[in-house]
Order: sequence, then structure tokens, then C-alpha cells
Amino acid sequence: MTTATKNFDVKDMGLADKGKARIEWADQDMPVLRAVRDRWTKEQPLKGITMSACLHVTAETANLVRALKAGGADVALCASNPLSTQDDVAAALTKHYGIPVMAIKGEDNETYYRHLEAMVLREPNVTMDDGADLVTLLHTKYVDKGKNVVVSMEETTTGVIRLRAMERDGKLMFPVIAVNDATTKNMFDNRYGTGQSTLDGVIRATDMLIAGKTVVIAGYGWCGKGCAMRARGMGAKVVVTEVDLIKALEAAMDGFQVMTMDEAAKVGDLFITVTGNMHVIRPEHAMSMKHGAMVCNSGHFDIEIDLKGIAKEAKEIRKDIRNFVDEYKMKSGRSMYVLAEGRLVNLAAAEGHPASVMDMSFATQALASEYAVKERKNLQKKVYTVPVDIENWVARLKLESMGIAIDTLTKEQAHYLSSWEHGT
Ligand code: ADE
Repeated sequence: MTTATKNFDVKDMGLADKGKARIEWADQDMPVLRAVRDRWTKEQPLKGITMSACLHVTAETANLVRALKAGGADVALCASNPLSTQDDVAAALTKHYGIPVMAIKGEDNETYYRHLEAMVLREPNVTMDDGADLVTLLHTKYVDKGKNVVVSMEETTTGVIRLRAMERDGKLMFPVIAVNDATTKNMFDNRYGTGQSTLDGVIRATDMLIAGKTVVIAGYGWCGKGCAMRARGMGAKVVVTEVDLIKALEAAMDGFQVMTMDEAAKVGDLFITVTGNMHVIRPEHAMSMKHGAMVCNSGHFDIEIDLKGIAKEAKEIRKDIRNFVDEYKMKSGRSMYVLAEGRLVNLAAAEGHPASVMDMSFATQALASEYAVKERKNLQKKVYTVPVDIENWVARLKLESMGIAIDTLTKEQAHYLSSWEHGT
């Protein structure tokens, strides 16, 4: 097959068996998604649907797309970040599961967009995004293909922010389900997933000891909370920076030091950005950092650290002094280390969130897509949240899989909660 005609593009098909073992390993820890796949295999709710997904190509995502295929969808996958692809998983999906993947870890921008375009050219009816790159392409260069789309799913905070802006400006061409906004996604994946996998990425990249260090977390959303909690658990002194008054107060009352980035820059040993905003760490901050400060990002896009601006203040940049570590020798004579080129450190230098938490995110994602396909005629060009019944189903099954039973309301309690007559 020539490059022009083949419907996949992976690094090395020879990695497929290794990838299959990795997908099966993750599957063991994804009981809720497995239950969806088992039901879908019989019911085929996605039969006749062409789906294009733009997600991090990991073992966990592999199990999501396996479920979509089991449900009858004709599905293909590309990467939602040039550095997050697990090449063995990409090969396994293509070779062993019949799901074409276009993704290579470390692909350049041109290849990244070529892969995205291939997803668009399949003329999907349903798309899945992690960061809204696919939807953006369907609203800009490929508006004609956007007309085939009946509904789209969005996995992450940054993507939902972009989509809500499109909805506000009256530009949205089809309905979107904000999977990120489901509690079964953000409260667990964003907090426990990002918290653990970010520190995992930092440690794998640097081998640094967290205990005793000052760790600066920029942003106190769910992801920031998770990172702060886990850094404290490993013995770090944690500093939080924020622009939101309530979140700053929350961080202070959770017992973290809250200060401006100008102040934090002088004291931090490790900096983690998780704000979803651009240029949170700027040249003036880099110039006041201690020698040896480590800087990384776990927000979706690689814009949180102003690396171009910082590079102008560096007298030398030494790339890859270890895997995923670049040294910026500043004019002051001090060095700052940037991890994973400012891209998602948890997916670039580690394996992303563990399967057990992606189980909830992706079961929610899968069930939301079934709902959206069923309800497509009744949905408007808006951003929708996931129905609460889906969230409750996912939570119930996850608890069951963990061997946890909970109480139910007695009749008397149910009556009490629904009445207004009872007072002091
Ligand atoms: N986002 C964060 N972790 C992930 C994972 N393991 N798979 C897919 N998307 C992710």
C-alpha cells in the first residue's frame, strides 16, 4: 500500500503485539467500560455511524474505541497531541483490532494536521475530540464536511471552553456533548488522574525527590487540586497561584500558600502549570527562578509556559539532556529545566491517567455518544451536558466494581427530604 492510499499511519507495526498486551492490561482495570462494550456487542447502538476520534492514543483510549467498534461504529483514531501517542498501542489497534490509527509519537505539526485532516476526510457523522482540534477544523478549512456531522463529543476543559465560545458567537454547526463537565469525568479524572500522572511524569523525566521541595502549582481547578494534593502527600511544600478569587481562597483554606507568580518564581523548585490559559510562566518569572528550577505543564495546550519569550532570555538551550528535559541556561548564569517541551508532561513523559480512572471518563464518553446518537434529531446547535442518569449509572457500576455498597434512603427519610413542613 502506498502512503497516499493507506488509511493508517503508525510508527512501527512490529510493536503491535506489545501494544495488544498493554491494551489488555488496561482493560482489566476498566470494568465499567467493559460492561458497556458487552452490552453494545449485542445491541449495536452505533451501527451505521462513521466516527472519527481525535484523542490521546493510549491503551485506555484503545479500550474506548474498541467499545465503539463493538457497538457497530466504523471508527478511526488520530492523536490529540503530538507527544502523547503510545506507538505500540497505535500499531495494535490498526493490526489486531481493525481500527485504523493515524498517530506517531513526536510527529511534527504538519504530520499532526495531516492526520487530523484524514479523520475529517472520512466524512464522519460523529466526532470525538480532546481539545476541539477536530471540531475547529470542521468549522474552518472543512466546513463542507462539517455538514455531515450530527453530533460531537468533547473530553477536556480546554475544548469545552473553545466550544462554549463558538456557541456564544452563534458559530457552532452541530450539537456537542461536554463530557468533561460530567462529574464522573472531571471530579475523578481531572483531580486524581492528573494529580497522580503529573507527578509520575515529573519523576520519570527527572528522577527528582519531591519531599522537601517547594512545588508551585499554577491554577486551582480540579487538575490543580489534584496536583497540589499529591505533591503535599509526597512531602512537598506546596504554593498555589491563581487569578480567581474563590479558588485562591479555597487553596488558602486547604492549607496551601497562595501568592503571585512573581513571588512564587523566586521560591519554587518545581513549577506545574494547569490553568488552561496562556503565558502563565513568562520570561520575567524564568529570570528570577532559582538555579535548577524545573518547569512543566499539565494543561492541554503547550501555551502555558512562554517558551519562545523565555528562549530570548537564554544564552544557550541544551536539548534532551535527559529524555524529556531541556536545559535553558539563562543570561544570569542560572539554569532552568523545561520538561516535555511544555507539553502535557503526564502523557509525554509518563502514561497519562491510569486505566482505573479513565474507566469512568470513557464509560461516560461512550454512553454519552449512545445518547447523542439516539437523540440526534432532538438536539440543537448547542453545548450539552451529560444526562444525570448516565453519571449515576457509571458511579453505581464503579462502586460495585470496587466492592462498595452504600445506604439507601428509608421511606421516612425520602419523605422528609421531599417535604417542607418539618421545621425546628
Ligand atoms: N488523558 C489523560 N490521561 C489519558 C489516558 N491515559 N488516555 C487517554 N486520555 C488521557
